Amino acid sequence: MARGGLAVEEDARPVRVEGVVRPPGDKSITHRVLLLSALLRAPVVLAHALTSADARSSARVLRQLGVAISPLATRRRVRVTGGPWHAPKSVLNCGNSGTTARLMLGALAAHPFPARLTGDASLRRRPMRRVTDLLTRMGARVEEHGGDGLPLTIHGGALNGIQFESPVASAQVKSAVLLAALTGRVTVTVTEPARSRDHMERLLRFLGLPIDVTGTTVRLEGQGFRPSDVPPLDLEVPGDPSSSAFLVAAALLAEGGELKLERVGVNPTRTGYLRVLARMDAAVHREAVGEVAGEPMADLVVGPADLRGTDVSAEDIPSLIDEIPVLAVLASRSHGETRFRSVGELRVKESDRLSLLAANLRAVGARAEVQGDDLVVEGRRNPPRGRVETAGDHRIAMAFAVLGTVPGAAVALSERRSVQISYPSFFADLERIGAR
Ligand code: S3P
Repeated sequence: MARGGLAVEEDARPVRVEGVVRPPGDKSITHRVLLLSALLRAPVVLAHALTSADARSSARVLRQLGVAISPLATRRRVRVTGGPWHAPKSVLNCGNSGTTARLMLGALAAHPFPARLTGDASLRRRPMRRVTDLLTRMGARVEEHGGDGLPLTIHGGALNGIQFESPVASAQVKSAVLLAALTGRVTVTVTEPARSRDHMERLLRFLGLPIDVTGTTVRLEGQGFRPSDVPPLDLEVPGDPSSSAFLVAAALLAEGGELKLERVGVNPTRTGYLRVLARMDAAVHREAVGEVAGEPMADLVVGPADLRGTDVSAEDIPSLIDEIPVLAVLASRSHGETRFRSVGELRVKESDRLSLLAANLRAVGARAEVQGDDLVVEGRRNPPRGRVETAGDHRIAMAFAVLGTVPGAAVALSERRSVQISYPSFFADLERIGAR
Protein backbone atom coordinates (compact mmCIF):
# COMPACT_ATOMS: atom_id res chain seq x y z
CA MET A 1 0.00 0.00 0.00
CA ALA A 2 2.81 2.39 0.77
CA ARG A 3 4.59 4.54 -1.73
CA GLY A 4 6.99 2.52 -3.89
CA GLY A 5 5.63 -0.73 -2.45
CA LEU A 6 7.47 -0.30 0.84
CA ALA A 7 6.21 -1.93 3.96
CA VAL A 8 5.32 0.66 6.58
CA GLU A 9 6.30 -0.52 10.01
CA GLU A 10 5.35 2.14 12.55
CA ASP A 11 2.16 3.55 11.11
CA ALA A 12 0.11 1.90 8.40
CA ARG A 13 -2.04 4.96 7.55
CA PRO A 14 -1.04 6.52 4.22
CA VAL A 15 0.68 9.88 4.64
CA ARG A 16 -1.68 12.63 3.47
CA VAL A 17 -0.28 16.13 3.27
CA GLU A 18 -3.10 18.64 3.10
CA GLY A 19 -4.37 22.00 4.21
CA VAL A 20 -3.62 25.65 3.66
CA VAL A 21 -0.46 27.41 4.85
CA ARG A 22 0.76 30.95 4.45
CA PRO A 23 4.55 30.58 4.45
CA PRO A 24 6.64 33.16 6.34
CA GLY A 25 7.72 36.39 4.67
CA ASP A 26 10.56 36.33 2.18
CA LYS A 27 13.95 36.55 3.87
CA SER A 28 15.80 38.30 1.04
CA ILE A 29 13.04 40.88 0.61
CA THR A 30 12.68 41.47 4.37
CA HIS A 31 16.41 42.25 4.72
CA ARG A 32 16.30 44.59 1.74
CA VAL A 33 13.15 46.45 2.72
CA LEU A 34 14.43 46.94 6.29
CA LEU A 35 17.71 48.28 4.97
CA LEU A 36 16.28 50.57 2.30
CA SER A 37 13.59 51.87 4.69
CA ALA A 38 16.34 52.64 7.18
CA LEU A 39 17.84 55.06 4.63
CA LEU A 40 14.57 56.96 4.06
CA ARG A 41 12.98 59.71 6.16
CA ALA A 42 9.27 58.83 6.00
CA PRO A 43 8.07 55.71 7.88
CA VAL A 44 7.64 52.38 6.11
CA VAL A 45 5.10 49.90 7.46
CA LEU A 46 5.58 46.24 6.56
CA ALA A 47 2.99 43.50 6.63
CA HIS A 48 4.13 39.86 6.74
CA ALA A 49 7.81 40.69 7.24
CA LEU A 50 9.90 37.71 8.24
CA THR A 51 10.48 37.66 12.00
CA SER A 52 13.14 34.92 12.10
CA ALA A 53 16.61 35.14 13.66
CA ASP A 54 18.20 36.36 10.39
CA ALA A 55 15.64 39.15 9.95
CA ARG A 56 16.20 40.12 13.59
CA SER A 57 19.93 40.36 12.91
CA SER A 58 19.29 43.01 10.26
CA ALA A 59 16.85 44.88 12.52
CA ARG A 60 19.25 44.75 15.49
CA VAL A 61 22.20 46.07 13.49
CA LEU A 62 20.10 48.89 11.99
CA ARG A 63 18.87 49.89 15.47
CA GLN A 64 22.52 50.14 16.56
CA LEU A 65 22.93 52.73 13.79
CA GLY A 66 20.05 54.82 15.11
CA VAL A 67 17.14 53.50 13.04
CA ALA A 68 13.79 53.01 14.82
CA ILE A 69 12.30 49.58 14.08
CA SER A 70 9.32 48.21 16.00
CA PRO A 71 9.63 44.64 17.35
CA LEU A 72 9.63 41.85 14.76
CA ALA A 73 6.80 39.66 16.00
CA THR A 74 4.53 37.22 14.16
CA ARG A 75 1.27 38.74 12.85
CA ARG A 76 2.41 42.26 13.82
CA ARG A 77 3.20 44.97 11.30
CA VAL A 78 6.74 46.31 11.47
CA ARG A 79 7.32 50.05 11.36
CA VAL A 80 10.68 51.40 10.25
CA THR A 81 11.59 55.05 10.68
CA GLY A 82 14.93 55.81 9.10
CA GLY A 83 17.12 58.83 9.38
CA PRO A 84 20.78 59.74 9.24
CA TRP A 85 22.84 56.86 10.60
CA HIS A 86 25.26 57.44 13.46
CA ALA A 87 28.45 55.62 14.40
CA PRO A 88 27.61 52.42 16.31
CA LYS A 89 28.74 52.32 19.94
CA SER A 90 29.53 48.61 19.78
CA VAL A 91 30.31 45.83 17.31
CA LEU A 92 27.56 44.99 14.79
CA ASN A 93 26.79 41.32 15.27
CA CYS A 94 25.20 39.88 12.11
CA GLY A 95 24.53 36.50 13.76
CA ASN A 96 24.20 33.77 11.11
CA SER A 97 23.12 36.13 8.35
CA GLY A 98 25.39 36.50 5.32
CA THR A 99 22.87 38.84 3.71
CA THR A 100 22.93 41.19 6.73
CA ALA A 101 26.73 41.27 6.75
CA ARG A 102 27.27 41.80 3.02
CA LEU A 103 24.44 44.27 2.45
CA MET A 104 25.36 46.27 5.56
CA LEU A 105 28.95 46.54 4.32
CA GLY A 106 27.63 48.06 1.10
CA ALA A 107 25.36 50.52 2.90
CA LEU A 108 28.09 51.49 5.39
CA ALA A 109 30.73 52.15 2.71
CA ALA A 110 29.57 55.73 2.19
CA HIS A 111 28.94 56.53 5.87
CA PRO A 112 31.80 58.58 7.36
CA PHE A 113 32.48 56.49 10.47
CA PRO A 114 34.08 53.16 11.33
CA ALA A 115 31.89 50.13 12.01
CA ARG A 116 33.10 46.73 13.13
CA LEU A 117 31.07 43.73 11.98
CA THR A 118 31.13 40.18 13.25
CA GLY A 119 28.91 37.10 13.25
CA ASP A 120 28.52 33.60 14.61
CA ALA A 121 31.09 30.85 13.92
CA SER A 122 29.40 29.89 10.63
CA LEU A 123 29.27 33.47 9.33
CA ARG A 124 32.86 34.16 10.39
CA ARG A 125 33.96 31.34 8.06
CA ARG A 126 32.24 32.89 5.02
CA PRO A 127 34.15 34.96 2.43
CA MET A 128 33.72 38.74 2.55
CA ARG A 129 36.42 39.89 0.10
CA ARG A 130 34.01 39.31 -2.79
CA VAL A 131 32.25 42.41 -1.38
CA THR A 132 35.03 44.31 0.41
CA ASP A 133 37.40 44.24 -2.61
CA LEU A 134 34.76 46.10 -4.62
CA LEU A 135 33.97 48.56 -1.84
CA THR A 136 37.69 49.25 -1.49
CA ARG A 137 37.83 50.00 -5.22
CA MET A 138 34.97 52.42 -4.66
CA GLY A 139 37.00 54.25 -1.98
CA ALA A 140 36.04 52.66 1.35
CA ARG A 141 38.78 51.44 3.67
CA VAL A 142 38.41 47.93 5.05
CA GLU A 143 40.46 46.63 7.96
CA GLU A 144 40.54 42.85 8.19
CA HIS A 145 41.05 41.20 11.55
CA GLY A 146 42.32 37.83 10.38
CA GLY A 147 41.80 37.08 6.70
CA ASP A 148 38.91 36.87 4.28
CA GLY A 149 35.95 37.09 6.61
CA LEU A 150 34.46 38.62 9.71
CA PRO A 151 35.29 40.27 12.00
CA LEU A 152 36.31 43.32 10.02
CA THR A 153 36.03 47.08 10.29
CA ILE A 154 34.79 49.25 7.48
CA HIS A 155 35.73 52.93 7.39
CA GLY A 156 33.28 54.60 5.04
CA GLY A 157 33.63 57.90 3.23
CA ALA A 158 33.32 59.56 -0.16
CA LEU A 159 32.99 56.96 -2.92
CA ASN A 160 33.63 56.79 -6.63
CA GLY A 161 31.58 54.79 -9.13
CA ILE A 162 32.75 51.49 -10.63
CA GLN A 163 32.00 49.18 -13.48
CA PHE A 164 32.84 45.51 -12.97
CA GLU A 165 32.19 41.96 -14.06
CA SER A 166 31.48 39.69 -11.13
CA PRO A 167 33.00 36.20 -11.35
CA VAL A 168 30.11 34.83 -9.23
CA ALA A 169 26.37 35.30 -9.71
CA SER A 170 25.71 36.62 -6.22
CA ALA A 171 22.77 38.78 -5.27
CA GLN A 172 24.55 39.72 -2.06
CA VAL A 173 27.56 41.12 -3.93
CA LYS A 174 25.33 42.90 -6.45
CA SER A 175 23.06 44.34 -3.74
CA ALA A 176 26.02 45.51 -1.66
CA VAL A 177 27.45 47.61 -4.50
CA LEU A 178 24.01 48.93 -5.43
CA LEU A 179 23.58 50.10 -1.83
CA ALA A 180 27.03 51.69 -1.92
CA ALA A 181 26.09 53.52 -5.15
CA LEU A 182 22.83 54.70 -3.61
CA THR A 183 24.27 55.97 -0.32
CA GLY A 184 27.47 57.25 -1.99
CA ARG A 185 25.49 59.00 -4.77
CA VAL A 186 27.64 57.47 -7.53
CA THR A 187 27.06 55.26 -10.58
CA VAL A 188 27.83 51.53 -10.62
CA THR A 189 27.51 48.99 -13.40
CA VAL A 190 27.57 45.29 -12.45
CA THR A 191 27.62 42.40 -14.90
CA GLU A 192 26.99 38.90 -13.53
CA PRO A 193 27.77 35.57 -15.25
CA ALA A 194 24.08 34.67 -14.76
CA ARG A 195 21.15 36.57 -13.32
CA SER A 196 20.94 36.35 -9.52
CA ARG A 197 17.81 37.31 -7.55
CA ASP A 198 16.75 40.83 -8.47
CA HIS A 199 14.80 42.00 -5.41
CA MET A 200 17.06 45.01 -4.88
CA GLU A 201 16.61 46.14 -8.48
CA ARG A 202 12.82 45.82 -8.21
CA LEU A 203 12.70 47.75 -4.94
CA LEU A 204 14.93 50.53 -6.25
CA ARG A 205 12.76 50.83 -9.36
CA PHE A 206 9.67 50.90 -7.14
CA LEU A 207 11.24 53.80 -5.20
CA GLY A 208 11.64 55.65 -8.51
CA LEU A 209 15.43 55.38 -8.79
CA PRO A 210 17.16 55.29 -12.18
CA ILE A 211 18.08 51.62 -12.43
CA ASP A 212 18.67 50.03 -15.79
CA VAL A 213 18.80 46.27 -16.41
CA THR A 214 20.07 44.90 -19.72
CA GLY A 215 20.64 41.14 -19.84
CA THR A 216 22.79 40.34 -16.83
CA THR A 217 24.04 43.93 -16.48
CA VAL A 218 22.60 46.29 -13.88
CA ARG A 219 23.39 50.02 -13.76
CA LEU A 220 22.33 52.37 -11.01
CA GLU A 221 22.87 56.11 -10.96
CA GLY A 222 22.78 56.90 -7.25
CA GLN A 223 23.25 60.66 -7.71
CA GLY A 224 19.52 61.35 -7.77
CA PHE A 225 18.74 59.64 -4.45
CA ARG A 226 16.91 62.04 -2.08
CA PRO A 227 15.85 60.12 1.06
CA SER A 228 13.18 62.70 1.91
CA ASP A 229 11.53 62.52 -1.53
CA VAL A 230 10.11 59.04 -0.81
CA PRO A 231 6.62 59.23 0.76
CA PRO A 232 5.47 57.00 3.65
CA LEU A 233 4.99 53.44 2.39
CA ASP A 234 2.82 50.48 3.30
CA LEU A 235 4.19 47.22 1.90
CA GLU A 236 3.43 43.51 2.09
CA VAL A 237 6.27 41.01 2.00
CA PRO A 238 5.47 37.97 -0.20
CA GLY A 239 5.79 34.47 1.24
CA ASP A 240 9.30 33.07 0.93
CA PRO A 241 9.63 30.71 -2.06
CA SER A 242 12.64 29.07 -0.39
CA SER A 243 10.68 28.24 2.78
CA SER A 244 7.69 27.19 0.66
CA ALA A 245 9.86 24.70 -1.23
CA PHE A 246 10.14 22.50 1.89
CA LEU A 247 6.36 22.23 2.21
CA VAL A 248 6.00 21.66 -1.54
CA ALA A 249 8.49 18.79 -1.18
CA ALA A 250 6.54 17.26 1.73
CA ALA A 251 3.38 17.31 -0.40
CA LEU A 252 5.19 15.73 -3.36
CA LEU A 253 6.54 12.90 -1.20
CA ALA A 254 3.16 12.19 0.44
CA GLU A 255 0.75 9.43 -0.59
CA GLY A 256 -2.35 11.59 -0.74
CA GLY A 257 -3.82 15.01 -0.09
CA GLU A 258 -3.47 18.44 -1.60
CA LEU A 259 -1.59 21.37 -0.12
CA LYS A 260 -2.23 25.04 -0.81
CA LEU A 261 0.43 27.67 -0.07
CA GLU A 262 -0.86 31.21 -0.04
CA ARG A 263 0.72 34.44 -1.31
CA VAL A 264 4.11 32.99 -2.20
CA GLY A 265 6.67 35.07 -4.10
CA VAL A 266 7.05 33.90 -7.70
CA ASN A 267 9.72 36.30 -8.92
CA PRO A 268 11.30 34.31 -11.81
CA THR A 269 14.80 34.80 -10.36
CA ARG A 270 13.61 32.69 -7.38
CA THR A 271 11.39 30.05 -9.00
CA GLY A 272 14.03 27.91 -10.68
CA TYR A 273 12.95 25.12 -8.30
CA LEU A 274 9.44 25.11 -9.81
CA ARG A 275 10.90 24.85 -13.33
CA VAL A 276 13.13 21.95 -12.24
CA LEU A 277 10.21 20.24 -10.46
CA ALA A 278 8.17 20.45 -13.67
CA ARG A 279 11.01 18.60 -15.43
CA MET A 280 10.90 16.03 -12.62
CA ASP A 281 7.18 15.42 -13.42
CA ALA A 282 5.90 17.38 -10.42
CA ALA A 283 3.08 19.70 -11.38
CA VAL A 284 2.85 22.63 -8.99
CA HIS A 285 -0.20 24.64 -9.94
CA ARG A 286 0.01 28.43 -9.50
CA GLU A 287 -2.66 31.03 -9.41
CA ALA A 288 -1.51 34.66 -9.56
CA VAL A 289 -2.76 36.79 -6.66
CA GLY A 290 -1.15 40.12 -7.46
CA GLU A 291 2.02 42.09 -7.06
CA VAL A 292 3.59 44.15 -4.28
CA ALA A 293 6.43 46.62 -4.90
CA GLY A 294 7.19 44.91 -8.21
CA GLU A 295 7.19 41.39 -6.71
CA PRO A 296 4.65 38.92 -8.16
CA MET A 297 2.83 36.54 -5.80
CA ALA A 298 0.79 33.38 -6.39
CA ASP A 299 -1.03 30.66 -4.49
CA LEU A 300 0.64 27.30 -5.08
CA VAL A 301 -1.27 24.01 -5.09
CA VAL A 302 0.58 20.70 -5.01
CA GLY A 303 -0.02 17.00 -4.35
CA PRO A 304 1.90 13.71 -4.52
CA ALA A 305 3.99 12.98 -7.62
CA ASP A 306 6.03 10.16 -9.04
CA LEU A 307 9.31 11.98 -9.60
CA ARG A 308 12.06 11.37 -12.11
CA GLY A 309 15.64 12.60 -12.07
CA THR A 310 16.85 15.51 -14.16
CA ASP A 311 19.89 17.54 -15.11
CA VAL A 312 20.19 20.93 -13.41
CA SER A 313 22.47 23.16 -15.48
CA ALA A 314 24.93 25.80 -14.30
CA GLU A 315 22.57 28.49 -15.70
CA ASP A 316 19.68 27.12 -13.59
CA ILE A 317 21.65 27.35 -10.34
CA PRO A 318 21.36 31.04 -9.31
CA SER A 319 17.55 30.88 -9.46
CA LEU A 320 17.42 27.88 -7.10
CA ILE A 321 20.65 28.13 -5.09
CA ASP A 322 18.87 27.86 -1.71
CA GLU A 323 16.59 25.04 -2.90
CA ILE A 324 19.40 22.59 -3.74
CA PRO A 325 19.20 20.86 -0.32
CA VAL A 326 15.49 20.10 -0.74
CA LEU A 327 15.82 19.30 -4.46
CA ALA A 328 18.65 16.88 -3.64
CA VAL A 329 16.42 15.18 -1.09
CA LEU A 330 13.65 14.90 -3.71
CA ALA A 331 16.20 13.58 -6.21
CA SER A 332 16.99 10.79 -3.74
CA ARG A 333 13.30 9.69 -4.02
CA SER A 334 13.11 9.96 -7.83
CA HIS A 335 13.56 7.48 -10.66
CA GLY A 336 17.06 7.72 -12.09
CA GLU A 337 19.89 10.17 -11.58
CA THR A 338 19.90 13.91 -10.92
CA ARG A 339 22.98 16.01 -11.53
CA PHE A 340 23.35 19.52 -10.12
CA ARG A 341 26.05 21.14 -12.24
CA SER A 342 28.62 23.70 -11.04
CA VAL A 343 27.36 24.05 -7.48
CA GLY A 344 30.74 24.94 -5.92
CA GLU A 345 29.10 28.00 -4.27
CA LEU A 346 27.36 25.58 -1.91
CA ARG A 347 30.71 25.16 -0.13
CA VAL A 348 30.48 28.73 1.24
CA LYS A 349 26.86 28.81 2.41
CA GLU A 350 25.79 28.53 6.09
CA SER A 351 27.70 25.21 6.00
CA ASP A 352 29.67 23.38 3.32
CA ARG A 353 26.36 22.26 1.85
CA LEU A 354 27.99 20.38 -1.00
CA SER A 355 29.84 17.80 1.10
CA LEU A 356 27.22 17.81 3.84
CA LEU A 357 24.39 16.99 1.41
CA ALA A 358 26.28 14.09 -0.14
CA ALA A 359 27.42 12.74 3.26
CA ASN A 360 23.94 13.03 4.81
CA LEU A 361 22.19 11.42 1.85
CA ARG A 362 24.60 8.51 2.14
CA ALA A 363 24.08 8.42 5.93
CA VAL A 364 20.36 7.71 5.37
CA GLY A 365 21.01 5.02 2.74
CA ALA A 366 20.71 7.12 -0.43
CA ARG A 367 23.31 7.31 -3.21
CA ALA A 368 25.02 10.65 -3.66
CA GLU A 369 28.48 11.92 -4.50
CA VAL A 370 30.39 15.08 -5.25
CA GLN A 371 32.11 14.99 -8.65
CA GLY A 372 34.29 18.09 -8.99
CA ASP A 373 31.80 20.93 -8.53
CA ASP A 374 28.79 18.74 -9.37
CA LEU A 375 26.45 16.95 -6.97
CA VAL A 376 25.10 13.66 -8.30
CA VAL A 377 22.16 11.95 -6.60
CA GLU A 378 20.65 8.61 -7.59
CA GLY A 379 17.06 7.90 -6.67
CA ARG A 380 16.26 4.89 -4.47
CA ARG A 381 13.15 3.31 -3.05
CA ASN A 382 14.39 2.04 0.31
CA PRO A 383 13.08 4.04 3.28
CA PRO A 384 15.65 6.63 4.40
CA ARG A 385 17.09 5.72 7.78
CA GLY A 386 20.00 7.17 9.70
CA ARG A 387 21.43 10.18 11.50
CA VAL A 388 21.89 13.50 9.77
CA GLU A 389 24.46 16.13 10.78
CA THR A 390 22.94 19.54 10.10
CA ALA A 391 26.05 21.52 11.16
CA GLY A 392 23.53 24.09 12.42
CA ASP A 393 22.43 24.84 8.85
CA HIS A 394 18.69 25.61 8.70
CA ARG A 395 18.18 24.43 5.14
CA ILE A 396 19.98 21.11 5.72
CA ALA A 397 17.80 20.55 8.82
CA MET A 398 14.54 21.32 6.95
CA ALA A 399 15.46 19.31 3.84
CA PHE A 400 16.20 16.18 5.87
CA ALA A 401 13.19 16.73 8.14
CA VAL A 402 11.11 16.54 4.94
CA LEU A 403 12.91 13.35 3.91
CA GLY A 404 11.96 11.98 7.31
CA THR A 405 8.26 12.29 6.38
CA VAL A 406 8.58 9.50 3.77
CA PRO A 407 6.67 6.35 4.83
CA GLY A 408 8.93 4.02 6.78
CA ALA A 409 11.62 6.66 7.24
CA ALA A 410 13.58 7.10 10.45
CA VAL A 411 15.73 10.19 10.04
CA ALA A 412 17.32 11.67 13.17
CA LEU A 413 18.57 15.26 12.96
CA SER A 414 21.57 16.35 15.04
CA GLU A 415 19.56 19.47 15.98
CA ARG A 416 16.32 21.24 14.99
CA ARG A 417 16.88 24.70 16.48
CA SER A 418 18.51 26.09 13.33
CA VAL A 419 15.10 26.42 11.63
CA GLN A 420 14.80 29.63 13.71
CA ILE A 421 17.16 31.23 11.18
CA SER A 422 14.58 31.43 8.39
CA TYR A 423 11.40 29.52 9.31
CA PRO A 424 10.63 29.43 13.05
CA SER A 425 7.23 27.71 12.61
CA PHE A 426 8.58 25.04 10.23
CA PHE A 427 8.00 21.99 12.45
CA ALA A 428 4.59 23.27 13.58
CA ASP A 429 3.57 23.80 9.93
CA LEU A 430 4.88 20.37 8.91
CA GLU A 431 2.79 18.77 11.64
CA ARG A 432 -0.26 20.85 10.80
CA ILE A 433 -0.28 19.67 7.16
CA GLY A 434 -0.07 16.05 8.26
CA ALA A 435 3.54 15.29 7.31
CA ARG A 436 5.11 13.16 10.05
C1 S3P B 1 20.72 35.91 -0.87
C2 S3P B 1 21.52 35.54 -1.92
C3 S3P B 1 22.08 34.19 -2.06
C4 S3P B 1 21.35 33.20 -1.18
C5 S3P B 1 21.15 33.71 0.21
C6 S3P B 1 20.32 34.98 0.19
C7 S3P B 1 20.26 37.31 -0.81
O1 S3P B 1 23.44 34.23 -1.71
O2 S3P B 1 22.04 31.97 -1.15
O3 S3P B 1 20.49 32.76 1.00
O4 S3P B 1 19.30 37.62 -0.09
O5 S3P B 1 20.85 38.13 -1.52
P1 S3P B 1 24.58 34.68 -2.75
O6 S3P B 1 24.29 36.07 -3.14
O7 S3P B 1 25.88 34.58 -2.01
O8 S3P B 1 24.49 33.70 -3.87
